[in-house]
Amino acid sequence: MLNLLFVCLGNICRSPSAEAVMNNLIKKRGYEDLIRCDSAGIVDYHEGDPADSRMMKHAAKRGISLTSISRPVKKDDFTTFDYIIPMDYDNKNALLSFKVTDGLKKKVRMITEFSGPKFKYDVVPDPYYGGERGFELVLDILEESCSNLLDYLIRQHPDNFNG
Ligand code: 4NP
Repeated sequence: MLNLLFVCLGNICRSPSAEAVMNNLIKKRGYEDLIRCDSAGIVDYHEGDPADSRMMKHAAKRGISLTSISRPVKKDDFTTFDYIIPMDYDNKNALLSFKVTDGLKKKVRMITEFSGPKFKYDVVPDPYYGGERGFELVLDILEESCSNLLDYLIRQHPDNFNG
């Protein structure tokens, strides 16, 4: 089993979307027993809240249902998860400031490492204070990058997928 943790600032827009986009791809390809996804936030301002209603509305238009409840990242996540996947550099730097070993920090990999060529972004821009297009862009980037991430995981862990 591979465990993925998607991380953004508030865990109500981008990382819940990444989790749901990835879960849809996993389901489509029949890998439900092989990969598990979760998401978390750098801050706890929205702890216990469902995803942002605007984010949910835009995701629903693409058949993506956001089900996660916001929670902050905790130190234990570095041992529980195999990949910890931030949405932007602030998220990444905050993760790298956790007091964990360098080996565990290697689990931190930006989602945009897997983006492109259609949506070649360095970060998934925070949509919280912007308009409708920001939410669509989040989903555009995530649909492409999560698909590439899944292909990467299959290549990287052949024993998990062929066994
Ligand atoms: P997210 O978006 O990090 O994609 O969940 C945000 C959610 C809340 C806030 C900022 C960004 N906030 O400032 O409360």
